[in-house]
Amino acid sequence: MATFDKDEFVAECLAAVRSGGRSNAAVKEIVDRTVANPSAIEAEVGDRTVSPMMTIWHRSDELTALHIVWPPGVDLFAHDHNMWAVIGIYGGREDNQFYRRLEDGRIEPHTGKTITQRDVVMLGSDVVHSVANPTREWTAALHVYGGEFFTTPRTMWSKETYEPMPFDVDFVRQTLEAAAASARLADVPGERP
Ligand SMILES: [Fe+2]
Repeated sequence: MATFDKDEFVAECLAAVRSGGRSNAAVKEIVDRTVANPSAIEAEVGDRTVSPMMTIWHRSDELTALHIVWPPGVDLFAHDHNMWAVIGIYGGREDNQFYRRLEDGRIEPHTGKTITQRDVVMLGSDVVHSVANPTREWTAALHVYGGEFFTTPRTMWSKETYEPMPFDVDFVRQTLEAAAASARLADVPGERP
């Protein structure tokens, strides 16, 4: 049975970026191949329902690789990346809402795309999206970005007004952890309202 090693995964992605050319397409091939075997990833990273919601596997100016878990019911605000992104789902489902940028800096909903286990999406550097997991399952994904995800200036947009504001990664973590905490509570017998 094929195995998965996250350090080898990162090394492969870095090699793809360093080879030049269409490195996002090369990374997509790697992520495609990797999420095609969800049980191998699970054997390496463990049970997604108890893992941290965001784990950094690599961050540098060349590349960021993250393991991300979307708890049941989470609905993250719209944001951009300012770098290409490749997102592969190895368990569960995520609903992407894409937005159009308006001249005044706000955004408006445009198209949507649902991705499920073994699906991979490649996003251009100007894409604005929000991500939700409307299911009762825990969604798990590999995210690879073509730059430094945490320090590159980025934008997020208010859910209520679609007004732009500076991207705050701590707010993302808090949103994920709060959704995880309520999902875990809902799983405790007798605690369900
Ligand atoms: Fe994103």
